[in-house]
Amino acid sequence: MKIYVTENYQAMSRKAANIVSAHVILYPSCVLGLATGSTPVGMYRQLVAWYQKDDLDFSQVKTINLDEYVGLAPTHDQSYRYFMQTNLFDHINIVPANTYVPDGLAPDPEEACRRYNDIIHSLGGIDMQVLGIGHNGHIGFNEPGEAYELETHVVDLAESTIDANSRFFARREDVPRQALTMGIKSIMQARRILVVVSGEGKAGIVRAAFAGPVTPQVPASILQLHPDVTLVGDRAALSKL
Ligand code: GLP
Repeated sequence: MKIYVTENYQAMSRKAANIVSAHVILYPSCVLGLATGSTPVGMYRQLVAWYQKDDLDFSQVKTINLDEYVGLAPTHDQSYRYFMQTNLFDHINIVPANTYVPDGLAPDPEEACRRYNDIIHSLGGIDMQVLGIGHNGHIGFNEPGEAYELETHVVDLAESTIDANSRFFARREDVPRQALTMGIKSIMQARRILVVVSGEGKAGIVRAAFAGPVTPQVPASILQLHPDVTLVGDRAALSKL
């Protein structure tokens, strides 16, 4: 595993964007697995800035997102589709049909998961997967205790995740209770993984994930078994590693 320690959030975002953009430059038609959450926002902002300077071209890139809340429309300002549009897709020259996010409104979510797996396979798998880490160690929405062998599936969100994500909603009751998420198996099959972490609040879980035992109780710890992981974090998030 490669680890980059940066001074602060801004430097972390720039370093992570450097790694993604290097991939896009070397492999213009690559498949990027993308993540939401507050951590990668600065990275997306940096990628947009480089695109606007003409340093990046996304015209052949395909993206496939990790997860989506069940029940939220793409236009809901807390849906992950909306997040991706407003933070990245609306500002770059990616072809809309080449961007995939699980369908939170699918009448049959299980079927939507199966279709999503088919999409991942038909794209030839994920070249580089970006990941944040939840406070309880989740990746995507794979909560503690989740089976390793699953691909995209429906999950019940942990109470701690509902608490953590309620900061984005008007009321805790508004946070969806379920999500569609790529599974640990889908994530582990990505050829390269880029993990971004920031802030003192993540220091404990980052230590558990990367210096503790590999256990389903800390979903991110499985990444220790992946052959090509790059961890980019600011000093605060990596302080206990
Ligand atoms: C959400 C997402 C995860 C993300 C996590 C951490 O629950 N499903 O993909 O990694 O939040 O978010 P943040 O970066 O805001 O701490």
